[in-house]
Amino acid sequence: MNIHEHQAKALLAEYGVPVPRGNAAFSVDEAVAIAGDLGGPVYVVKAQIHAGGRGKAGGVKVVKSLDEVKDVAETLGVERDDTIEDLHSGKAKYSSIFNYPTLTWADIGAIGWLVDGAAIMNQVPLCRCSYGPYSRAMVRVCKEESFHQRQGYSIMLAMAKGTPEQKRMAQDAINRWWFPSLMMFGPHDTESSHSEQSMNWKIKRFSNDELRQRFLDMTVPQCELLGCEVPDPNLKFNEETGHYEMSPLDWDEFWGVVKGNGKCNRQRIRARKEAYEKGEWVREAAMEYADKKQKRREASKAA
Ligand SMILES: [Fe+2]
Repeated sequence: MNIHEHQAKALLAEYGVPVPRGNAAFSVDEAVAIAGDLGGPVYVVKAQIHAGGRGKAGGVKVVKSLDEVKDVAETLGVERDDTIEDLHSGKAKYSSIFNYPTLTWADIGAIGWLVDGAAIMNQVPLCRCSYGPYSRAMVRVCKEESFHQRQGYSIMLAMAKGTPEQKRMAQDAINRWWFPSLMMFGPHDTESSHSEQSMNWKIKRFSNDELRQRFLDMTVPQCELLGCEVPDPNLKFNEETGHYEMSPLDWDEFWGVVKGNGKCNRQRIRARKEAYEKGEWVREAAMEYADKKQKRREASKAA
């Protein structure tokens, strides 16, 4: 049934069925105004989406003040421009890996194989997470990412089996991307501030350390198949557990990168801002075109 909750409520009310008081808000200000009219003491803010498990995924929030209504409404319906602004101002977080430089062609292979490989390890379980819109999108994201990973590995294979110079380049790329890829799984479970809530809501289904271990166990044999070395002197296979063990990660480096002091954080944001500014005319043209199409549709309907 493709009908929003607030639409269903209006329908029921029209036929005299008692429904909880409330209204649909299309902006944060509207949500606060509606809550003010209702007059508390408890407010329920709900995301109006066509998906089951809305409550589980955090789409339904019970709050007790207008300030809280504002906070919750903001995270439920974020404007695209706001998210871009958050990225440009440094407020929004993004994967730490995007702050490392790419130096040679071999990096394209190593990134596809290791970075996209780590991303897939994270994203495949998300295809079955509790938040419908996210899980449905992830199915398609994973299809594309697995293509990137295979392409990356095939570049690495070609280089590792190529000339001594190519092989040296491949090994150098692995040396630089190995640990940053392992850091993509985030801090240790004990230090991951959002993990517990995400696991409770079943958005996250495996912990950071579990996924990192899976990635390590899968990737070491792939590296051996390339005939390259894993750049970790402490790497060893534990016969008892059946898992690889690795050096502790450099958490100072990790937090430095996350907090904006990685090798390329500033260049990256600068490049993003520049791209946004230079793309202004494309966005304007697209809006203009959509407007024209809409008008044409309306005109043909009226005719
Ligand atoms: Fe990718």
